[in-house]
Amino acid sequence: EKSKETALSHLFFTYQGIPYPITMCTSETFKALDTFEARSDDIVLASYPKCGSNWILHIISELIFAESKKKYEYPEFPILECGDPEKYQRMKQFPSPRILATHLHYDKLPGSIFKNKAKILVIFRNPKDTAVSFFHFHNDVPDIPSYGSWDEFFRQFMKGQVSWGSYFDFAINWNKHLDDENIKFILYEDLKKNLAAGIQQIADFLGFSLTGEQIQTITAQSTFQAMRAKSQETHGAVGPFLFRKGEVGDWKNLFSETQNQEMDAKFKECLTGTSLGAKLKY
Ligand code: A3P
Repeated sequence: EKSKETALSHLFFTYQGIPYPITMCTSETFKALDTFEARSDDIVLASYPKCGSNWILHIISELIFAESKKKYEYPEFPILECGDPEKYQRMKQFPSPRILATHLHYDKLPGSIFKNKAKILVIFRNPKDTAVSFFHFHNDVPDIPSYGSWDEFFRQFMKGQVSWGSYFDFAINWNKHLDDENIKFILYEDLKKNLAAGIQQIADFLGFSLTGEQIQTITAQSTFQAMRAKSQETHGAVGPFLFRKGEVGDWKNLFSETQNQEMDAKFKECLTGTSLGAKLKY
């Protein structure tokens, strides 16, 4: 049984106004990130936590394998802003294409990503399922501190006092750039509805030309069931927690009616009238 903590704020440090987990990020690494040299063939995968980044990472690795017959291997923890400050030096040796997963806001990404025109996939998921997934992740994974209750987590999530800060700030920040050149928007709920079509769109965006048969093979390997079945092999002990349920609408199992209304109001306040607000479905 995990020890329950009600306030996790002592486990965050704030860098440029955003809380990050002290176990995963340091200000030295953030400073070193400014010196990171992106390549034009880097593939950036930007998302708020729990929006499906491991899913898309898997799809892109499969696309790279199908296109080049080279198994995609990446010797660093996949999140760009996590790790020690020397990682950016080591990354200079990594073969192209490198996949750079990140939870950073658009305006916190290193400038070389834009200067060198790396392609950026931005993944969004509706905020209610994202919050529920984030809560379970904290409370299920033994090595991550738990919240005392769902209600406690919900309060912190709404205040943006969780790892990587506010979902809504992330959304407002990225919303302005979703139609920019070299940026492709992906919605978790769209992928759930038609995985093959989503994979085809990602392949097109990255400039990979694959046969219909190859797309079908990757689709079969990228369903929730297929990924969960292999999760311990691919992600170790944390695997089954990363591939927990994979559904749209799981929020209905935890949200109270008051919380539902509170989040609808926040959504309205932050995103109504924006192109992202119109796209997010739940
Ligand atoms: P749930 O907790 O709702 O199950 P991330 O990889 O960004 O941490 O996101 C994790 C969420 O994506 C989890 O949501 C996980 O189950 C879901 N996910 C991962 N692979 C998936 C897949 N192939 N299909 C659908 N959802 C998937």
